[in-house]
Amino acid sequence: MKSEETETVEEYIVKGGTPLKGEVRISGAKNAALGILAGAIMADEPVTVENVPDVRDTHVILNAIEGVGAGVKEVDKNTYIINGKSIHSIDIQYEQVKKIRASYYLIGALLGKYHEAKVALPGGCDIGSRPIDMHIKGFKALGAEVDIMAGGVVWARAEKLTGANIYFDMVSVGATINLMLAACMAEGDTILENAAKEPHIVDVANFLNAMGASIKGAGTDVIRIKGVEKLHSATYSIIPDQIEAGTFMVGAAITGGDVTVCDVIPKHLESISAKLMEMGCTIEEGDDTVRVIGAKRLTSTNIKTLPYPGFPTDMQPQIAVALALAKGTSMVTESVFDNRFRYIDELARMGGHGKVEGNTVYIDGVEKFSGAQVAAPDLRAGAALVLAALAAEGFSEIEDIIYIQRGYEDFDGKLRSLGASIQIVSDDREAQKFRLKTG
Ligand code: EPZ
Repeated sequence: MKSEETETVEEYIVKGGTPLKGEVRISGAKNAALGILAGAIMADEPVTVENVPDVRDTHVILNAIEGVGAGVKEVDKNTYIINGKSIHSIDIQYEQVKKIRASYYLIGALLGKYHEAKVALPGGCDIGSRPIDMHIKGFKALGAEVDIMAGGVVWARAEKLTGANIYFDMVSVGATINLMLAACMAEGDTILENAAKEPHIVDVANFLNAMGASIKGAGTDVIRIKGVEKLHSATYSIIPDQIEAGTFMVGAAITGGDVTVCDVIPKHLESISAKLMEMGCTIEEGDDTVRVIGAKRLTSTNIKTLPYPGFPTDMQPQIAVALALAKGTSMVTESVFDNRFRYIDELARMGGHGKVEGNTVYIDGVEKFSGAQVAAPDLRAGAALVLAALAAEGFSEIEDIIYIQRGYEDFDGKLRSLGASIQIVSDDREAQKFRLKTG
C-alpha cells in the first residue's frame, strides 16, 4: 500500500521571466493508466503495467484495488505487477477513492469480472456537472441492475452480462472505457456507438486485448467487443501523456523558449501543434519528439475544444493563458464541460484580461503578467497558472498544488530541468529563502 498522501499545505513558488529551454521526457498517460490499472484486476494472473505515471490519482486507484485484496507489487515508481486472483471483496468504500472521478472504472472492472460492484461515487476536479448517467445506462443495457445507495455508493449487479448495442447520447471518454471494461467478459457481442476516440481509449482497448479480450474499432466511433470467458496475464506499457506533453509545449510558447518533448506520439499532439503554429511558434516533429520554439510575441487565435481529434478540453486553460499574453483578442470556447473557466479570475491577479460569457472566454492579450499569489482551482487550471507564473515578471505563489500533483509527475522537477525557477515550499520561511536565493 502506497503511503497515504500526506495533505500538507504545500505551494509552488516561482520566479518568472526565464524562457524554458531543453528536453523533457513525458510520462505515461494518466487517463489511460486509470482505466488500465482498474482493468488489470480482471485477470486471475499477474499483469505487469509499465510507464505508469507516478501521480496521486494512480496511487489512489492502486490503493483501492489493494484494499479489496488484489496483489499490487511495486517494481519501481512507474511499474506495477497486479494480480486480481486474491480479490476478496467487491465493495470499494475506500475513503480516498471518492476523491477521483476515475474510481468509476472499478465499477466496470468488478461488474465485468464478478457481476457485482459497490463503489463510492466519483469525485474529481470541479469543472462542471459530471454525471455518470451514460455509464449506468450502458451497465443496464448489459443486464445489470444499478442503484445509487445512501452515501453516494453505486451498487451494480447482474446474474449475468449479455452483449448489447449501446449508443452514447454524448461522446464520453469515461463511459466508453467503462463499458469496454464491463463488456469484455460478457456473453456475446457488444457494439458501442458514438464512442470517444481519444488516444487513451485506444490504449485501454489494446491493453485489454493483450489480456485476451476481443475489442475492435477503438479510436473510431464504433467499437465492437466480443465477450471472452477469461482474461490472462500480460505485460503492457502505457502510451505517453498527450496533455502533459501539450502543457510543456505551451510552456515553451508562453515563455518564448525552446523545448523538445520526448517519448511522445506526435500524431496525438497534432491539434496542439497546429494551434501553436497559428500563434507564431515553430514546430519540429521527430519520430517520438516534438520541438516547440516560442515566438518573440505570440499572436491571437480562436480555440474551440472538442472530443479527439479536436483540440483537447484538458489543454484549454493552458492555451488560454498563453493567448492572454498574445497580441490581439482571442476567443476560447469550451464545448465539453460547463465550468472550466475558474482560472480566469486567478489569472486576473497576474494582469490577464479574460471575460467569460457562457461557454466562451474573450481574451484581450496584454504585454506582460506580474507575479501574484494564486490558487489552483483544478488540475489543468493549476498547471496553466504555473505556466502563467513562469512567464510573469517577479515572484508568484500557487496554492492548492495537490490538484496539480494528481496528474503531473514531478512537475516542478521537470520544469527546473528546463531552467525554471520553481520550488515546492510548505511555509513562509522556505518561501523567503527561495526569494533571497533567486532574487
Ligand atoms: C475524462 O473525464 C478525463 N478524466 C478528463 O480529464 C477529460 O477532460 C474528459 O475525459 C474529456 O476528455 C479521466 O479520464 C479520469 P467525459 P470524463 O465522460 O470521463 C458529460 C483531466 O484533466 N457526461 O468524456 O469525466 C460530462 O459531464 C481530466 O485529466 C455525461 O453527461 O469525461 C462532460 O460534460 C479532467 N454523462 C462530457 O460528458 C456521463 O455519463 C464529457 O465527459 C458521462 C459524461
